[in-house]
Amino acid sequence: KKADDQILIIFGASGDLTKRKLIPALFELFKQNLLPENFAVLGASRSALSDDEFRKRADEFIPDNQEREAFKKLLFYQPVQNKEVDDFIPLKERLKELSDSLGIATNYVFYLSTPPSLYPVIPKMLCLNGLSKSENNFRRLIVEKPFGTDLKSAKELNKQLLNYFEEEQIYRIDHYLGKETVQNMLVTRFSNGIFEPLWNRRYIKRVEITSAESLGVEGRGGYYDSSGALRDMLQNHLLQVAGFVAMEPPVVVEADAIRNETLKVFQSLRPIHENEVSRYVIRGQYTASTIGGKKAAGYREEPGVEKFSRTETFAALKIFIDNWRWAGVPFYIRTGKKLPTRVTEIVIHFRKVPHHLFGNASSDSNNQLIIRIQPDEGILLKFGMKTPGAGFKVQTVNMDFHYSDLADKKVPAAYERLLLDCMQGDPTLYSRGDAVEAAWEFVQPILNAWETNPEIPIYGYPAGSWGPEDSAKLIANGDWRYPCKNLSNDGLYC
Ligand code: BG6
Repeated sequence: KKADDQILIIFGASGDLTKRKLIPALFELFKQNLLPENFAVLGASRSALSDDEFRKRADEFIPDNQEREAFKKLLFYQPVQNKEVDDFIPLKERLKELSDSLGIATNYVFYLSTPPSLYPVIPKMLCLNGLSKSENNFRRLIVEKPFGTDLKSAKELNKQLLNYFEEEQIYRIDHYLGKETVQNMLVTRFSNGIFEPLWNRRYIKRVEITSAESLGVEGRGGYYDSSGALRDMLQNHLLQVAGFVAMEPPVVVEADAIRNETLKVFQSLRPIHENEVSRYVIRGQYTASTIGGKKAAGYREEPGVEKFSRTETFAALKIFIDNWRWAGVPFYIRTGKKLPTRVTEIVIHFRKVPHHLFGNASSDSNNQLIIRIQPDEGILLKFGMKTPGAGFKVQTVNMDFHYSDLADKKVPAAYERLLLDCMQGDPTLYSRGDAVEAAWEFVQPILNAWETNPEIPIYGYPAGSWGPEDSAKLIANGDWRYPCKNLSNDGLYC
């Protein structure tokens, strides 16, 4: 069923996210006829653009075809200042006029795609102008990341938002939850009889979650230097992924049933105290090197980055989830920029058989279930098979499913799914306030230790390598899985 008629108001409409992600996602939804019957997008920001200028800007990011022209008719623009409460009056009037002229019910989704300093300001202006509540129509607020820069600011932001909107109206985006393969984690676990019985400390030895990027900070040095890998990737995206891997089965597929379970995972994370940080967390920063014969700049040479910056571009952690299911099972999580390849994957390492019939333990198969989140989305199971010929030699082979094999189905971009869900009033794949705070609670002591204890090293690693050598030491024998550099589609994924 299509979502009810509505207007999507994008604050920060002249910004990068709107152009690169939101407009293309809306265009895809339009092409698939998934947008509400009566619908408009009202871009808003301080820039003085006309509707036509806003539409022209969209051209750059959506392919030129007939559908584009029809889609662009849904786009409108309203310049908005945000200093005085009255600055929102023109916006309010424009919304009314659009509803009247286009026959759209006055349901509004407000999308905050602005600098984070405006996250508390705009909701306040909306509220004071009577736009945050309505008896008969819905009002929703989407908040982009970063949601706070530490525990204190995240709590403060939650508090401020709740002054103007109810929790049920607030949709905190984490685009990893919009990824098809992350959602598939739930389906893999809870729609198959064969995995869930093994999904616990008895059969799983450890879990690895890797999110490697080959890109560096790509012109975002200014933002990144005050953020770093822990804030940028771990506190939000990767803990959410860990939440889906580790959660208990929800009773129903409903927003709060699922979000209650991920919250419990965050609440069960064993705290890493400030004096233990070096033992459980390794941080690194890429240094200049040569990749494929080309010179690659070091992080400190990137525009916008401090010359002696101690911001981490790599982080690897060993964490524990202290509950019945996971007691004693380490979760290793690592993320970094300028690594050898771009890959995000979850690897479930199963325990070996208890009795080694075919030789010693090392000849037995080390079963792994690998969930490839991106690119080349899919699932791979590694298991032992008899090597043909004399004797009983075991070799590990792959059973490999690629999403690309589903020829008739395209994997939708994260923002398509998330925008559609919010339009339909489904917050399942959005973070709830308490979960965001619980995730910050876990990360905060690590940030504190790094900030206050100069003796905790930040290791350099050459751009194009798998991060600091010391990160290997987190796992016994340095036994991380190193994904292939060239991911292939022919079942040879190593
Ligand atoms: C963003 C981070 O949230 O996620 C970026 O700010 C990072 O630094 C990006 O590159 C990764 O997203 P994806 O979807 O490319 O894995």
